[in-house]
Formats: sequence, C-alpha cells, structure tokens
Amino acid sequence: MLEPLNQLEEEARAALEAAADPGALAAWRTTYLGRRGKVTEAVKALATLPAAERPAYGRRVNEIKEALEAAYEARAEALRQASLAQAWVADQVDVTLPGRPIRPGRLHPSTQTLREIYRIFAEMGFQVYRSRDVETDEMNFTLLNMPPHHPARDMWDTFYTTRPGVILRTHTSPGQIRAMRDYCPEPIRVILPGMCYRYEQITARSEIMFNQVEGLAVGRNITMANLKGTIVDFARRMFGEGRRVRFRASHFPFTEPSAEVDMDCILCGGKGCRVCKYTGWLEIMGSGMVHPVVLKNGGYDPDVYSGFAFGMGPERIAMLKHGIEDIRYFWANDLRFLQQFG
Ligand code: DAH
Repeated sequence: MLEPLNQLEEEARAALEAAADPGALAAWRTTYLGRRGKVTEAVKALATLPAAERPAYGRRVNEIKEALEAAYEARAEALRQASLAQAWVADQVDVTLPGRPIRPGRLHPSTQTLREIYRIFAEMGFQVYRSRDVETDEMNFTLLNMPPHHPARDMWDTFYTTRPGVILRTHTSPGQIRAMRDYCPEPIRVILPGMCYRYEQITARSEIMFNQVEGLAVGRNITMANLKGTIVDFARRMFGEGRRVRFRASHFPFTEPSAEVDMDCILCGGKGCRVCKYTGWLEIMGSGMVHPVVLKNGGYDPDVYSGFAFGMGPERIAMLKHGIEDIRYFWANDLRFLQQFG
C-alpha cells in the first residue's frame, strides 16, 4: 500500500534533480506540489482508504510532502547560487586594462585670441575690467555723446528689450563710463572685453553676436602719441615685429579726434591681395582721444584730464591671424572648425 508512495517520491526526486533552470523548477512544482499536483492528489486519496490503513498512509504521505518541499527549496537555492556564480565569471572586469583616454577639450579660438590680447595689454599695465552685456540706452548711447534721436545711433542696429531703456550692448564702449565712474578721480588703464549684440543680417563678415575689446586710458597729459605708441606696440606683439600701422582720420561720437587703425596686410605684406581688397592694408580697430563730454559723463574734468580709447573685434583679429574667411564659423559650433585651434 505504501509502495506507490515510495515510487512517487523517487520519481519526484529524480525530476527535481533534472530541473536545471527556474522555468523547469516552476513546472516541477506545479506537477508535484501544485493544487492538482501528484503529491497533493496522494494526500487527498487518504479519505478513500479504509480506516485501518489511514494512519500509516497519512504519516508516510505527509513525510514525503514535507521532504519534497524542503528538497524544492534546496534546489531553488542551489540554482540561484549557480547563476550568481556564473554572473561573477561572465561579468568580471579586468581592472588591469588601460582606461579609455579622455579626449582633452580645448579653448575656443575667440577665447584664445582674447587671452593673447589680455597678456599683451597686461604687459603694458592694462587691467581687465568686466562690464555688463545688458545695458541701458543711456550708457550705450547718451552718455557716449549720442543723445536720443541722434543720427549717429544708426551706426548700431540695436536689440531692444521689452523693458524701456534696457538694451543689449551694441559695443563695449559703455563700459568706459562704468569704469570711469568706478575709478574717478584716479588714473585709468583698462581693457574691457566681452560680447556685443547687433540686430544685423548675418553674413560672412558680420554676426549678431561677437566679442569686442575696448581699451581706455585716462589721466593727466595723455596724448595722441600715447595712443599711437600703445596701438603700434600691440600690433607688433600680436602680429609680429616690423608691422606697419597707420592712423586714418575717422569719426566716432565718443572720441575727438577719431582714427581708424590699419595694419599692413599680413598675407601679402602690403603688396595687395584678395584679403586686403588690393589696398595693402587691413583695418584692425577704431580709436581716438576720449571726447570731453564723455570724460565729464565719467566724472573727470576735461580741462585737467585727457584719455584715449580704442575698440577692436577679437574674432576679426583671429580671422586675420588664421586666415579664417567667414565669421559665422565662430558660433556655429562645428567641431571640424573648432578642433583646428589649440
Ligand atoms: N565702439 C566702436 C564700435 O563698436 C569701436 C570704437 C571706436 C571704440 C573708437 C572706441 C573708439 O573706444 O575710440 O564700432
């Protein structure tokens, strides 16, 4: 009477031993220990036996049920351990392998040019003065000797904000007023770098945003000779010894007299080529003696103090230095361009 039970146990144990993965294990459990499983059916069969056979049968079938449940748990745990051990091997990391090299970044060509400009002017005693990008109309124009509605304002196409009187600076020149009001009555020797914004059509030669570097020196007895000496020295340090520089009369509302600064063409050496439009000269900046009205707006008495100022575009300078033909490359974020520098 107990023989079928012994056979059932043997069969179940062999099947359990053969279940090699979680799927087979779950199937085994359903077959033997599930609600309609073989062992469960054997337990139910107890009720159909004559009373005399029940105690022995019942003891044995319960024994088998418990033994198989324990065997099942042990098998499940063994499979878990085996798959863990396998993962340890499969996912092993060779920590002795060399790492992937980190590709070093590099400075943007404008930043490189700016830093070179800072270095040269630092050697001449100029400090960097940071002014703001979001400016007032008053600083950007009025205090620079361009009253409202003055036609000279048309030289700069301006981005206006929704707040009346607040604009994006069209040039770094408003920083002159801020620097003067900060330093007054001390003498000043600063350069003012930063982004400028113009509501212009974007072309190979003009962008809506670009850097400028303004220069400002204020003190007693500052003359045009100081302006010329400073700029000629800068051009030679930036572009090479022996560069020729010329000052061409011009007009800016905030300087008097005003001059455009040209340098002999670095490509053809002055003979004339496509880059210098066959003139032999390249324009590198605007400059002049600070206008008395501007000095006064900065807090300085123009009868006692004088000063010079200049303004240049580092992207223009970089274009000349590296032979870059289109200013739009600077902010197009094309790595093929950017990776060529540094
Ligand atoms: N602010 C001028 C511009 O954006 C450049 C300039 C010209 C600056 C003459 C100066 C200067 O300081 O003296 O076109």
